[in-house]
Amino acid sequence: MKTYIFLAFVAVTLAIPACLTEKSGNRSNASEVNPNGDSELALLMRKMYDEAEGYKNKMEDNNHFHFTYEPDEIFTAQATDPAKPISKEYQLIGRAFVQSMEALQLAEQPDKKSHFQGMIHTCVACHEKVCRGPLEKIKKLYVEEISL
Ligand code: HEC
Repeated sequence: MKTYIFLAFVAVTLAIPACLTEKSGNRSNASEVNPNGDSELALLMRKMYDEAEGYKNKMEDNNHFHFTYEPDEIFTAQATDPAKPISKEYQLIGRAFVQSMEALQLAEQPDKKSHFQGMIHTCVACHEKVCRGPLEKIKKLYVEEISL
């Protein structure tokens, strides 16, 4: 009986778009790419998450790190809920995100950590407004030692 309840719970959880769930768990795993027709924006966001994590893990030696996406793709990728990207908050914070990515890519080595923090701050800011589901997971991307 317990198993059925658990399976029902899992089925329901998987059916809810990431923005509505408190935690999206490990949905960013590469093995799970597009299992049930995720939106372009959701796939882009997962890539953004994975690459930010990769960047963070190579903070001391990332001179050759390349992000494989253009930050302003967040304005053109089709979203699960098309109302989100056209909202005022998304447009404003989205522009801050694009600028923070540019600043990060131009930063000299000693400034990279603080620019990275600033960039993650724009992820968090947008998610607080339009998509709270993955918020806790995104906050783990902050580099511990630096406070804003
Ligand atoms: C301007 C707003 C905005 C910014 C900036 C932003 N996001 Fe998102 N994010 C969204 C929206 C909206 C969705 C929902 C996408 C959908 O379901 O179509 C999303 C979805 C996600 C998801 C869930 C994807 C899935 O599996 O469904 C993750 C993880 C994520 N974002 C991480 C990040 C990270 C990491 C950053 C910064 C590097 C970031 N986001 C920056 C708005 C934003």
